[in-house]
Amino acid sequence: MERTLVLIKPDAMERKLMGEIISIYEKKGFHISALKIVKPTKEMAEEHYAEHKGKPFYENLVSFITKGEVCALVIEGENVIEAVRKINGATDPLNAEPGTIRGRYALSKSENAVHASDSIESAEREIKIWFPEL
Ligand code: CMP
Repeated sequence: MERTLVLIKPDAMERKLMGEIISIYEKKGFHISALKIVKPTKEMAEEHYAEHKGKPFYENLVSFITKGEVCALVIEGENVIEAVRKINGATDPLNAEPGTIRGRYALSKSENAVHASDSIESAEREIKIWFPEL
């Protein structure tokens, strides 16, 4: 069974959208096999976003994700990586379809409500960062 790592980011947590967002994945038929609320350390954020190091928005990305609580989820199901990225919508809210999570809730390219792994390799790497006990 495929699995992916989803983060509900501080902008969505502050706006009390956690339950609503989780229920979108659940109602689509996916299984949530792990869940925790954490305030990420700088080290966790830097590891999570390592591939973006050096990009102009990297520092902002790390400071944003560490500014408040995050809900980390492991979600399982058939083709869950691709399906969850479709449910989340495009990174830029201007391009996100209205029915997607980002289309509904994202405020900007940084404050865009959710993150999801983009490949099987990323999912396994990211799950280890947020759920080292698994
Ligand atoms: P996420 O799915 O968490 O993974 C990488 C993040 O980088 C992405 O969501 C966006 O929040 C952020 N991002 C990507 N491109 C830009 C950009 N051009 N400006 C600001 N943030 C960006």
